[in-house]
Amino acid sequence: MFKINENYMKLPGSYLFSTIAKKVNAYAGANPDKEIIRLGIGDVTLPLAPSVVSALHSAVDEMADASTFKGYAPDLGYEFLRNTIVENDYAPRNCGIKADEIFISDGAKSDSGNIVDIFGDGNIIAVTDPVYPVYVDTNAMSGRTGVYNQETEMWSDVVYMPCIKENNFTPEFPEKTPDIIYLCLPNNPTGTTLPKSELQKWVDYANENGSVIIFDAAYEAYITSEDVPHSIFECEGAKTCAMEIRSFSKNAGFTGTRLGFTVIPHELKCGDIELHSLWARRHGTKFNGAPYIIQKAGEAVYSEAGKKETLDQVKYYMNNAKIIREGLIKAGYEVFGGVDAPYIWMKTPDKMTSWEFFDYLLNEKNIVGTPGSGFGPSGEGYFRLTAFGSLENTERAIKRITE
Ligand SMILES: Cc1ncc(COP(=O)(O)O)c(C=O)c1O
Repeated sequence: MFKINENYMKLPGSYLFSTIAKKVNAYAGANPDKEIIRLGIGDVTLPLAPSVVSALHSAVDEMADASTFKGYAPDLGYEFLRNTIVENDYAPRNCGIKADEIFISDGAKSDSGNIVDIFGDGNIIAVTDPVYPVYVDTNAMSGRTGVYNQETEMWSDVVYMPCIKENNFTPEFPEKTPDIIYLCLPNNPTGTTLPKSELQKWVDYANENGSVIIFDAAYEAYITSEDVPHSIFECEGAKTCAMEIRSFSKNAGFTGTRLGFTVIPHELKCGDIELHSLWARRHGTKFNGAPYIIQKAGEAVYSEAGKKETLDQVKYYMNNAKIIREGLIKAGYEVFGGVDAPYIWMKTPDKMTSWEFFDYLLNEKNIVGTPGSGFGPSGEGYFRLTAFGSLENTERAIKRITE
């Protein structure tokens, strides 16, 4: 008789966004006359930029012609895209990253989830709390998180680093030294960041303790503060302790188009073994490359016109963030984030739990957000709103919440 991966049975039941969807569907079914505004899921709403669309069209034409048709893409991605990424994202910031250290993929979720494959069983992982759920769940699937406690909503073998108002939502070095540290900056869900001097401390800590940092920079394009690094490789010594995951989803609206990449410097080693070689092996064996037409679209994001068009999209969302932030502050709410990230993290009023506030907003204001507790126990008493809606809906939502 075959056996299943029992680790899946340990995962806590319902996924945050499916619970939200169930509640919203139930409300919408019972109240068909109400118009619900969704500021919950972090999905973009603007269409792809014209330069990206035009690159997609011409790449499709190439695929339709025998002389330019492309079959399997190179395992690690096309050179044209890897070179473009280095020239635009890393060389100007003196990160010292080379094109062959870049692995093109179909997105940051896959990479941040699949990376667990190259690490051994006994590793202790550390995550911020609250956290993007993928890091913990994928480690749980590979049996690295111990036992789940329904009461505390925590795994016995995971090191949690609470990020709460009292510490400005920034993680502190944990008591127990972790082997793998997940850092997501700018952060989903809290919308906060670390200045370079603070990130440098994490790099030094990882180098001193032989830990590896998995740095998720999916929201890098939203950074506006001068002192916030766009890449962990801006920090001294990061190449020996960190890898970086990036996405085209939030800077260029590729959530449905799918493209991302991971940077693993050759210097990042466990003893003599480069993690680069393990990830290359994994990529070559289990992944057959992001589609040519999508990689061409990704290249177009870095063209002069593409840069301008996608920056305008980011500015559009950040204007929404400003509207949400300022509207809520004016109405007396305690608000965080929304300056270097498209997420606004607010304290629930009147000591309401995150789900109580969710129900209140849905039932009384017909607005959907995300309960902070869904991102981890330290998210209890907080609530996340996203800036990815349309300007019109954002303005209407804030008017509804604040009146
Ligand atoms: C922190 C973080 N990483 C990764 C992702 C997923 O990115 P992608 O669309 O490239 O898979 C998300 C999506 O919301 C995210 O919030």
